[in-house]
Order: sequence, then C-alpha cells, then structure tokens
Amino acid sequence: MRRLEDIEERPRNIMPKKIRLPKGKKTKYAIVLGTRPEIIKMAPIIREFEEQGLNYIIVHSGQHYSPHMDSNIFKDLNFPKPDYNLKVGSNSRGKQIKHIMKDLENIFKDEKPDIVLVEGDTNTVLAGAYAASNTGIKVGHVEAGLRSHDRRMPEEINRILTDHISDYLFAPTSRSKENLLKEGIEENKIYITGNTIVDAILQNLEISNHDSHYAKSLIGRLNTRDYVFLTLHRQSNVDSKTQLKIILEEIVKIPKEYGLEIIFPMHPRTKKMISEYNLGRHVERGKGILATEAVGYLDCLQLESKAKLIMTDSGGLQEESCILGVPCITLRENTERPETLAVGSNALIGKEYHKLLDYVGKSLKKGNNWKNPYGDGKTAEKIVEIIQNDLDLIKCAE
Ligand code: UD1
Ligand code: UDP
Repeated sequence: MRRLEDIEERPRNIMPKKIRLPKGKKTKYAIVLGTRPEIIKMAPIIREFEEQGLNYIIVHSGQHYSPHMDSNIFKDLNFPKPDYNLKVGSNSRGKQIKHIMKDLENIFKDEKPDIVLVEGDTNTVLAGAYAASNTGIKVGHVEAGLRSHDRRMPEEINRILTDHISDYLFAPTSRSKENLLKEGIEENKIYITGNTIVDAILQNLEISNHDSHYAKSLIGRLNTRDYVFLTLHRQSNVDSKTQLKIILEEIVKIPKEYGLEIIFPMHPRTKKMISEYNLGRHVERGKGILATEAVGYLDCLQLESKAKLIMTDSGGLQEESCILGVPCITLRENTERPETLAVGSNALIGKEYHKLLDYVGKSLKKGNNWKNPYGDGKTAEKIVEIIQNDLDLIKCAE
C-alpha cells in the first residue's frame, strides 16, 4: 500500500489509475447547494455520481424556495430529492450564512463526508465551504477563480473567501486559474476543468427543443418572430430605484427602434422591486415587453437559444449566450466572465445606458463566429475523476 508521504508528494495534475477500495472504505461526497444556478451547474456532477454509483448526499440550504426558482428547476433536470433541506429562506446575508453554517456543521458531524462540493458564489456556497472547513472536511469549489474585482458585490466576497478555504479549486479557464495564482493559492490545488454549464447545455438543449411548451407559447404570443431575451436580478441593478429606472427606460426604446420585442422572465427579487418602486408601467405588454414569472430551465434554454440578442446581468446567462451562439449585452459595470468579452460574444455596458441602442445595433450585426471558452462538456466527468482518485487514495492509506 502507498504511504501517506507518497500521496502528498504526488503531482496532482497527473491522473493515477482508479483505485479499488476495500469494502467499508467507500468515499462519501456531500453536495451543498441552495439557488437556481447552483442546481443547474451541479446537475452534471450529480449525474456523474449517479452513473458511477458513488456514495453521496445533497444538502439544499433553501436559499431559493419559490417553485419557479427551485422545484421546477429540479423537475426539469430530473434531479434527485435533496437528503436535507435547511429551509433558510430569505433573510439578511449574515443571518442566512449563520443559519446554514450551524445546520451544516451538525449534518457533517453525523454524515461524515470526505469532501463537500460547492458551486459558484452565493451565500450558500460560502456557508457550505466554511462549515466544511470548520469541521475538518475537505472543500471542492466548482467554478473557482472568477473575479469581478468589485468588492461591493457580496458574490465577490463569497468567491474570494471560498477559494481561500478550498482544497480543490476547479477553475473553468486559464484566466480563472491566473486569478487564483495571483492571490497566492498553491498551484497544486488548482485544476482547469471548463465549466459544468457546457455539460448542462449539451445534456438539455435537445430535450428543451421538444419539451419547452411554455417557452413556445410565449414566443407564439409575440407580434414579431424576433425578440430580445432579458433577465435582471443583480442587487446593484434592482435594489436601487434610480438604477432600475435608468435601465428600464432605455430598454423600453428597443422595440420601437429595432422592431424586436422583449421577453423578460422576472427573478422574484426584480418583480418585487419593480412593484415596490412603482415601475410597472415600463414593462407593459403595449410597450413591446412580455414580462413573466421566472421560467423553468428547459424553457429558459429554449428562449435563449432562439433569441436574436440576450441582455442580462446574470453570470450564467453570459456563459450560456456565448455557448449557444447568441450575442449578449451585459448590463453591469464589470464582469467576472471576461472570457466572453475576449471571444467577442459579450459586450459590457458599463455606465453607458444612454448608448444602449447603439450597443444593440452593434450586437445584432456581429454574427456568432466565436469559440466557446468554457470547455467540451466533460467538466463534471473531469471533476469527479480528480476527487475520486485523490480521495480514494487517501482513504486507502487511512
Ligand atoms: C442569489 C445570489 C446571487 C445569484 C442569485 C441567483 C447571494 C448573495 N446572491 O441572489 O449571487 O446570482 O441568487 O438567482 O447569495 N426570493 C423569492 N423566492 C425565492 C428566492 C428569492 O421570492 O425562491 C426573493 C425574496 O424576496 C428575496 C429576494 O428574492 O429577499 C432575494 O433573494 P436572495 O436569495 O437573497 O438573493 P438573489 O437575488 O436570489
Ligand atoms: N434561468 C432559468 N430561468 C429563468 C432565468 C434563468 O432557468 O427565468 C437559468 C439560466 O438558464 C441559467 C441560470 O438560471 O442557467 C442563471 O441563474 P441566475 O441568473 O439566477 O444566477 P447567476 O448565474 O447570475 O448567479
């Protein structure tokens, strides 16, 4: 049997052959998730666990709970029911993190997983990683190394802290690896794997072409064939009345100028703020905007893939538009997805909302001849192979 010192010295980027563990020594994995994008981006990893018959549990924090943000997405992805739901609900950032951590620490003490996997940059992600690290469990961060370099964003703080307490960092691209190296994170913890969003698209686009009846009914309600797909939910955009008003006032000019309509599935946060700030008149049907509740994942993929243009402040949609070959305008000052700017699929509005119509014109003309920087759709397979080999070796030596 290998000695522990050998294991620690092994260069981690070289994949060893699969190890057969003796009975009773099966590695146990825990997945912690809590919001819509985490469910979507973790689904390919869960699928891999299922295919390989691995021993795993899923803990849902309950940060997202409305059916269209949670159970509908689970159904679309054929996702197994979580083993635990912490039902944290909506609350202040501090209270959410504290509640999730406290419950997770108890669960981890009982379940004793060998590793906890988290994905992305939400409060659930930070709480999951921190609770694991506090209870002496290894942490794997899927989608590590993204940086907007804007510390006003809670997500940026969540990313930085999570990366610095993780043992396995799965960076989607070489840029995200560079970000981690610049912050002094050891190279032997970092793996460039691509992003599981590509796996999710490859696994679901065809199904979406057949099964997205609601998306098709929305498209059928338009007066034109061509539309812009819009989503908004970033705190900096929707929690400020001034900012939200600026954005909506400019967007509403698009239908008249370009003869396009706008499909706008509203995140619950956005719906709430539009109502609270009395801005509903900007998203009326008569103005060429079809606003709805958030849609399911299969409907979303369908609406994205058939759009002429995507406008968003979502991280996931910047990636999906790039992968699906639809130009994107990002309604933010910065992005932690600079790869999409570099390949030319995405344009960042910054503070130039007064020029939004020009951005739209340029984006509509740009075609879609760019290369997807997020990998080949085998990210989940790579991640599972890395952790499985490593943890099985450690387990074997125990
Ligand atoms: C969270 C993440 C964000 C991620 C987004 C994905 C943090 C800090 N933010 O933002 O990074 O991009 O999820 O969508 O973790 N609400 C409902 N039903 C729900 C969920 C939320 O009605 O199922 C409403 C509540 O009024 C809540 C508000 O939306 O107060 C915001 O929810 P919250 O989870 O705090 O932040 P998100 O904006 O969803
Ligand atoms: N999405 C969805 N329904 C919608 C809007 C988005 O299923 O109405 C999906 C979208 O396909 C993407 C993910 O949700 O995969 C992005 O989540 P979100 O924008 O909430 O969060 P972010 O990616 O910004 O963290």
